[in-house]
Parts: sequence; structure tokens; C-alpha cells
Amino acid sequence: MRIQRVKPRVEQKEDRAPVDLTLIDGLLKKYQNLKGNLIPILQGTQDVYGYLPKEAFQHIHQATGIELNELYGVATFYAQFRLTPAGKHIVKMCHGTACHVQSVTAITDEILDTLQIKDGETTKDGLFTVETVACLGCCSLAPVMMIGEETYGKLTPKQAVKIIREIRRSENN
Ligand code: FES
Repeated sequence: MRIQRVKPRVEQKEDRAPVDLTLIDGLLKKYQNLKGNLIPILQGTQDVYGYLPKEAFQHIHQATGIELNELYGVATFYAQFRLTPAGKHIVKMCHGTACHVQSVTAITDEILDTLQIKDGETTKDGLFTVETVACLGCCSLAPVMMIGEETYGKLTPKQAVKIIREIRRSENN
């Protein structure tokens, strides 16, 4: 769960591959007339595409009759939903209490500066998305950062940036 929400950007890059909307037809059929279907539909859609593509909103609206503004309202309210594709590496910066006390904010700022993005955004090259999250469950290692399945603890800003740079370097080789 993200702690700090960034203003969601509904507009999306147009240079991406077309979205195959048939991939969610089974999901829509399953939840079509069920009460409280909105969140499961959005969750299922995000599971399929990794985010909520703009085209999917129209498709869901047509299939279920749920109003577009209701769909966007829920999708932008809950931090679990993503309106743009995530980067290849999702960098989770723990801003729980223990990490906060151990100055994780300075580390996050350093990473965001290095990548030239804001919290919740993805780098232009699509390699990194940075998100601030609640406790990652390993407070004794504070301050903590997670990239994919890898956990990095007792970090300093310098170490954190080095890790990011190494990943970028290995991706560019
Ligand atoms: S507060 Fe960061 S891991 Fe618990």
C-alpha cells in the first residue's frame, strides 16, 4: 500500500502495443451481474495487464454497465490500482515508522533525484518505478528498500543509489 499518493495520471503513452481486451472477457462474464463487482473486476484486470489500460475502462463499462466515472473514481482512489504500466523493476521504499526514524526519506529523495522521477512514477526508459510503501515487515533492517523480490537493509543514500546504478548498468549491457 502506498502511503503518499501522487496525482494519478489518466493519460497514457500512445506508443505502446494495442491492448487485447478479450483477455478480460472471462473475468467480466464471471462478475457481470454480481453485487460489489467493481473492485474484483479492476483487480482482475490489473492482474492481466499489470496496470489498468485506458481501453479496459471503456470495455468494462460496455460489458457491465458500470459508469466510467465510477470506474475511474475507484481506480484513482485506491493505491493498489495503477493507471500506467509499471517499470521493469519496482523499487519499494519503506516509509513505516522504523524506516522513517532511520531517515528513509533522504534515501528516497536521493533515488528519485537519481532517476529524475517523482514518487509513484516510472522512468522514461521503463526500467524503474519507485513507490513509497508501508512497513515491509523487516524493521530490524531499517531503513529498507525492496526491488522485486530482493530486500536491501541498513541502507545509506549512497548505497541505495549504487544499487540502482548497478541494476541500470546491467540492464544496459
Ligand atoms: S518500518 Fe520499514 S520494514 Fe518495518
